[in-house]
Amino acid sequence: MQALLLAGGLGTRLRPLTEDWPKPMAHVGNRPWLEHLILMLKNQGIDDFVLAVKHFPEKIQHHFGKGDKWRVRIRYAVERSLLGTAGAIKNAEPLLQDRFLVFNADIIQTFRLAPFIEAHDRRGAALSIALTEVDDPSQYGVVEQDADGRILRFVEKPRPEEAPSRRINAGIYMMEKTLLADIPSGREVSIEREMFPRWIESGVRVYGHAMDGYWMDMGTAKRYRQVHRDLLDGRLDLPVGGSEIQKGVKIGTDCDIHPGVLFVPPVLIGDRVSIGERSVIGPYTVIGDGCRIGSGVRLSESILWNRCSVDNNAILANCIFGHGLSIGTRYAMHEAVMSRIGVNYA
Ligand code: GDD
Ligand code: MG
Repeated sequence: MQALLLAGGLGTRLRPLTEDWPKPMAHVGNRPWLEHLILMLKNQGIDDFVLAVKHFPEKIQHHFGKGDKWRVRIRYAVERSLLGTAGAIKNAEPLLQDRFLVFNADIIQTFRLAPFIEAHDRRGAALSIALTEVDDPSQYGVVEQDADGRILRFVEKPRPEEAPSRRINAGIYMMEKTLLADIPSGREVSIEREMFPRWIESGVRVYGHAMDGYWMDMGTAKRYRQVHRDLLDGRLDLPVGGSEIQKGVKIGTDCDIHPGVLFVPPVLIGDRVSIGERSVIGPYTVIGDGCRIGSGVRLSESILWNRCSVDNNAILANCIFGHGLSIGTRYAMHEAVMSRIGVNYA
């Protein structure tokens, strides 16, 4: 089975982290989400990947290459201009098999694919859309279904009072390639706003399938933080590595942690991290590979990507820092989301 990963969006709602970094490469538990996704799909039998990329594609290509390290095949469909979600699929057409899965690569999920594929086949669907339920569907694509699960209506980001249900597009599709003939080429086309309604209207067999497992669109800083809370609380199950030095505190390899550091769980620390004496780390704190934390530092509810440094006696609360940031001594920062442009420490 083949998977096409839509990874080309600008990630505007996650700026400044996405200023020069593709959103699906945002770190989740100290590893780019896209890597978690590829490994998770590989574990479910997918070994052929097409990545539809546009925003800083070289960062994705540099990290994954042809996929040899992960023992999968990865090819790239690069867009010169943003083509939208359907345009990106159309652009990848020459690389696609007769049927394939599509993933919005910014969705953090632990979906079991086998029942989804099985339902698609059983129903003789041309298109199956994985569905999940949310309290406020107005930021998503919302569906109306009949008793057999066939989708009768699809409305992208309706006003709250106009949403036909709370069942939304989870951003995972199974598609027959024949559908691609309907997508216009050479211009921006949204699968949600243009193609789904058109296919449904013209009688294409479009079905919805309720998904299991964890689901979160990490598209905003608030939801990105929530993903990490869920990971550290064990609601999201991802292989994050490290060994547990005390309950709820996981630490990677080759770290230099002063014995006088106080950890307040849950905490996740990557490889080659140093932390000085009297620092208080946690709760809900994730520190990326190669970070240097000085002494007397207080870090709580914060997420640091790789190779950040935080000097003595600084205080960080509720912060998200991209790769390679340096925070001077005695700086106090609350709620800061910051990135440094021009570094590539994936
Ligand atoms: N290659 C490429 N080209 N990828 C794109 C493009 C493009 O022009 N535009 C968006 N993408 C990718 C994004 O990188 C992301 O992984 C995915 O397509 C979805 O785009 P978002 O911009 O994140 O859309 P959304 O979150 O507002 O809404 C979508 O996801 C919801 C689920 O979270 C829609 O599919 C909704 O219907 C859905 O409910
Ligand atoms: Mg999204």
